[in-house]
Amino acid sequence: MAYDVAGDGPAVVLLHGYPFNRSMWREQVKALSADYKVVAPDLRGHGETEATKNATMYEMARDVAALLDKLNIERASFCGLSMGGYVTFSFYSLFSSRVQSLILADTRPQSDAEETRRVRHEQAQKISEEGMKAVAESLLQKVLTPETLRERPEIVSRVREMIQGTKPEGAVAALRGMAERKDHSYLLERILAPSLVIVGSHDQITPPEVAEKMRRDIPGSRLEIIENAGHLSNIENPNQFNNAVKKFLDAQRWR
Ligand code: MLT
Repeated sequence: MAYDVAGDGPAVVLLHGYPFNRSMWREQVKALSADYKVVAPDLRGHGETEATKNATMYEMARDVAALLDKLNIERASFCGLSMGGYVTFSFYSLFSSRVQSLILADTRPQSDAEETRRVRHEQAQKISEEGMKAVAESLLQKVLTPETLRERPEIVSRVREMIQGTKPEGAVAALRGMAERKDHSYLLERILAPSLVIVGSHDQITPPEVAEKMRRDIPGSRLEIIENAGHLSNIENPNQFNNAVKKFLDAQRWR
């Protein structure tokens, strides 16, 4: 498993979305590593981590647990964005005692609706036949705001490169893994770890209503809406994202 570790202090694990990689956390690693040990892996089949035929959210969660064992980290805070959030829910359901706190960004606890599952299988087929290029432009339209698409070409190129750099077999396995993922809605009311829910104000994939419901269902959790951001709220508005995360982590540290 490829990963970056930076800084020292309480551990914070950053789990990226699909079909991206650990480089999406660049601004967060920089901001958090002054006070925390930040661990950012490439999940199975993404970035520089090998692809396998199957990649369930549970397998990805077990990969993360094995990485933490290797790094001698018993307990950490987790920040998962979108698919990284699905992996975070799986990790919590398997290893809750290893979770200090949760940051659930642009994600949802529910499993896929039938129609979403059908579209995932279609996408998987398309990627197997034509590669990542075939889905890159439509994905960009979904994950970034119209303003970013129009006015911030450096972000558009960065996200396009991540998508096109993902191994087709890794993307296909992740799509199938997401399609068959378990519904973790039941878990929310049982979450004891301090939790922060984050969502981009213009997120089309996991809209603010989904985040608001998570905030209501997780006892004591807080919601931060990231302005001028879509699904990739950490990239589109890193300042607000980082400030919210730092404030949340710092509050637990000094409690
Ligand atoms: C992601 O960003 O990880 C994806 O949008 C997740 C999904 O397709 O459900």
